[in-house]
Amino acid sequence: PRDKINQFDLVVERAISRRGFLGSVLVFGSGAAAMGTGLVSSTSIAAQQAASRFEFAPVAPATDGTVHVPEGYHWKVLAGWGDALFSSADGYDIANGGLLENSEKIFGENTDGMETFIFQSHQLIAINHEYANRETNLPAEQKGVPANADDVLKLQNLQGVSVFEIAESGDGWSIVKDSMFNRRITHNTPMRMVGPAAGHELLKTPADPNGTMALGTINNCGSGKTPWGTYLTCEENFNGYFGSTVKPQAVPSALVAKGYDRYGIDADGWEYEYHKWDARFDTSKSPNEPHRFGWVVEIDPTDPESTPVKHTALGRFKHENAEVVLAPDGRVVVYMGDDERGEYLYKFVSSGRYRPGGATSELLHDGTLYAARFNDDQTGEWLALTPQTTSMDAEEILIFTRMAASAVGATTMDRPEWIATNPNAIEAYCCLTNNKNRGVKPNAGGDETPVNGPNPRQTNHYGQIVRWRPHHADHAATTFDWDLYVMAGNPDVYHNAYGGSKNINSGNMFNSPDGMAFDMQGIVWIQTDGKDTNKGDYAGMGNNQMLAGDPVTGEIARFLTGPKGCEVTGLCWSVDRRTMFVGIQHPGGDWPDGNGKLPRSSVIAIKRDDNGLIG
Ligand code: FEO
Ligand code: CA
Ligand code: CA
Repeated sequence: PRDKINQFDLVVERAISRRGFLGSVLVFGSGAAAMGTGLVSSTSIAAQQAASRFEFAPVAPATDGTVHVPEGYHWKVLAGWGDALFSSADGYDIANGGLLENSEKIFGENTDGMETFIFQSHQLIAINHEYANRETNLPAEQKGVPANADDVLKLQNLQGVSVFEIAESGDGWSIVKDSMFNRRITHNTPMRMVGPAAGHELLKTPADPNGTMALGTINNCGSGKTPWGTYLTCEENFNGYFGSTVKPQAVPSALVAKGYDRYGIDADGWEYEYHKWDARFDTSKSPNEPHRFGWVVEIDPTDPESTPVKHTALGRFKHENAEVVLAPDGRVVVYMGDDERGEYLYKFVSSGRYRPGGATSELLHDGTLYAARFNDDQTGEWLALTPQTTSMDAEEILIFTRMAASAVGATTMDRPEWIATNPNAIEAYCCLTNNKNRGVKPNAGGDETPVNGPNPRQTNHYGQIVRWRPHHADHAATTFDWDLYVMAGNPDVYHNAYGGSKNINSGNMFNSPDGMAFDMQGIVWIQTDGKDTNKGDYAGMGNNQMLAGDPVTGEIARFLTGPKGCEVTGLCWSVDRRTMFVGIQHPGGDWPDGNGKLPRSSVIAIKRDDNGLIG
């Protein structure tokens, strides 16, 4: 038998060299590259690459404390942690970390996924606040560890989701304070649980004996938008908010114990200390409460009185984003990644069909959930998660979706982050951000994680973007072809697979792709959340950044660099497409205020100096 290194080389060979990054043009290109026999000469590829579609000159890597965009563009902060959404609230105060009484009237912390909406000529943004930095919000407490119920409530209020109206004036974009649409959704906002698992025994708690009404949405990471104009917010690392006041942790059944292990629910949590001051987060008192998180939540941004909805049909895992696309017959397809090492990629296909003007409120209530299997020959299939394929109950498949995906033998992935679909081609892209455990150790469920087709590098510190084209040009199809759009790497340091794919060079290096969205022109925008040491393996990459990618030629160019310490995450456009909104999460230094003030996660608005279209 071949040893591990040889197998690794073999898979890399398959993914990169044989039909790799030049080959990807042959497989997936549109236009000239895809015509005729599907073969294309190297000269015509060179010609395509010479004719860049990008309208900007790439920016250099940066290591400083601010944002840089190309010449001919400018940026300005739209909103930041602590900015008031209502005139009755004071904004952020460095001295006390903000007051509890203001905490649910201000823009929350750690901006992440966001989407824009237009309603009766009002432009709205719905946006996630992924987590809270304890030290800065609770400066009075030792290391910011909550010491009372008010501390916990303040953190709960600063996370979740904001919805607010925005408007543009001569001075740029700003929040419309006191707009009737402005709303904060927190860790305590009532939410309906719907779909096949709603009301299941595993969702019942002392406070909600019916298992149909949850409180709050937690660790909201990526986002999505439905064709009917609602916002999807995705619950990612919800496990860290739970703990147990009784140790060892109370575990009511073997199944729940297995679920706790797989999803990382432990007795200590991540020092949010909710369990000490809010009984529903104490697993010794409410052991099913964790099962009420890890869902995709739908919010109507146009109705501040509406009750958000948790969709059990879309499965429970550490959701990154929810990319919604329609199949030719109108079924709703939702692509979703589970961001943990060696976890899986999923899609939901609705039973019902979307028709403009038709009923939409229950389209996500019922459908089929699949996990992806990628074969090394660049084909793949979506494996339905059903009682027959998993030997699990239908409801348990939805509540313990990771176990169901393990049962069908889906492909363990290098941390699936955002998924985006190309408006100009029937294809989807997923950022696989990195995975130090690839080829080293199993995932949390004990599934082995050998190097494989779309995850071809052991101890993968750089990440890659896999894309697939569903067969029959139908996102609801159960088979597909795949390739790697890019493998990040450092060609200055490595002359092997860790040097990256052919579309990576000294001028566009990055690591850990995470956020991603297509614009209307079919350019894919890639945001990074990686190491910004700019040393060793990461030398020449600089701070986290946003790049533009051409899906046809493979060309990638750096458009933006963020301040030191930040991750760049969240991307959407104004309705007129003359402004691009980009999220800068957890910046270091004192960005954006300067003057030694605390750094604040913020959304910036980027425009062309000539006010031209920007995607
Ligand atoms: Fe919240 Fe996977 O990023
Ligand atoms: Ca992310
Ligand atoms: Ca990330």
